Amino acid sequence: MRILVTGGAGFLGSSLVESLVENGHDVVVIDNCWRGTKGNLRAVFDNITFIEGDACVSTTYEMIANPSSVDIVYHLAAINGTKWFHEEARMVMDVNLNSTLRSLEFAEQNNCRYVFTSSPEAFGESEIMPLGGDEASVFPVAHEHQRHAYGASKYLGELAVQHAVRQGLDARIVRPFNGYGPRLVGNEYGQVVAMMLQRAVHQGEIIVHGDGSQTRSLTYVDDIARGVEAAGLLDGLEGIIMNLGSEEERTMLELAKQVAKLVGNETGQSIRIRYEQGHPGDSKRRLPNLEQTKKHLNWEAQIPLEDGLVQTLRSML
Ligand SMILES: NC(=O)c1ccc[n+]([C@@H]2O[C@H](COP(=O)([O-])OP(=O)(O)OC[C@H]3O[C@@H](n4cnc5c(N)ncnc54)[C@H](O)[C@@H]3O)[C@@H](O)[C@H]2O)c1
Repeated sequence: MRILVTGGAGFLGSSLVESLVENGHDVVVIDNCWRGTKGNLRAVFDNITFIEGDACVSTTYEMIANPSSVDIVYHLAAINGTKWFHEEARMVMDVNLNSTLRSLEFAEQNNCRYVFTSSPEAFGESEIMPLGGDEASVFPVAHEHQRHAYGASKYLGELAVQHAVRQGLDARIVRPFNGYGPRLVGNEYGQVVAMMLQRAVHQGEIIVHGDGSQTRSLTYVDDIARGVEAAGLLDGLEGIIMNLGSEEERTMLELAKQVAKLVGNETGQSIRIRYEQGHPGDSKRRLPNLEQTKKHLNWEAQIPLEDGLVQTLRSML
């Protein structure tokens, strides 16, 4: 099949592209390298078409040769990283919304199947667990903080996709839960597993936000890429939403202790844990509802955190 992946040079996108190429598909990537890199695609770069451009503007899609031969669009381009949500709320909304609208238009014009990468953050501060069924999203008043620039943009993206489904597009939605693995960015803009590993390796310490009791369902990148890919390749999933996350919750303090032990064993250093104030709007728990995912994709996370952390650390050393 001929497949377009927006954001294909990023953390999740590059793993998805590698897998699609391995499975014999003809892949076109659109990425402006805002956060992703061509280096992330090193293993397959000679076997794909790479368009360096902005997924928010239709002229970028006009660079795709023979667009009507594209079968599937996987839309992953977005601004991701908690510090950005607060510092650059309008940019986050602009990119996340406009890239979704433009890629949806491309899919409609060329009769492609469409897969939207949403997020559990589309539920805002909902405390209903497991998360991601039919419950309502909960967003606080806008003057409190701007974190939900991201989550609300994903919520509106889902709305746009469901509207397109009603108008006849074969579109599906996936929501990855806290992916981690090689190529995850670990600077001050995120994401948590890589931040902890990088700081432990280079500075001998780990920062835990708040008291560390908040939980996440940490999910290895290969598991997520497998689920995202399947969500696009299977027939009969119009309008279906599939959460992709491990069912094992870990507190951030447990994660920090595990990272400290692992890095200590690998490098011989003793790693300190330091507590800092977290970002406003951070959710206390995030556990996926896998009902639809198991039913439609027969998917569940397979790679244990202990093994995934070792793979991630080794890719950094
Ligand atoms: N990583 C996770 O755990 C997770 C969880 C939930 C949702 N998601 C979603 O999955 C998708 C991929 O996430 P990721 O973790 O790989 O993030 P990422 O930042 O590594 O990837 C996003 C990619 O989009 C590109 N991009 C940004 N703005 C662009 C633009 N205007 N035009 C073209 N490309 C642009 C970036 O350069 C980057 O390569 C995103 O939509 C994200 O919101 C990720």
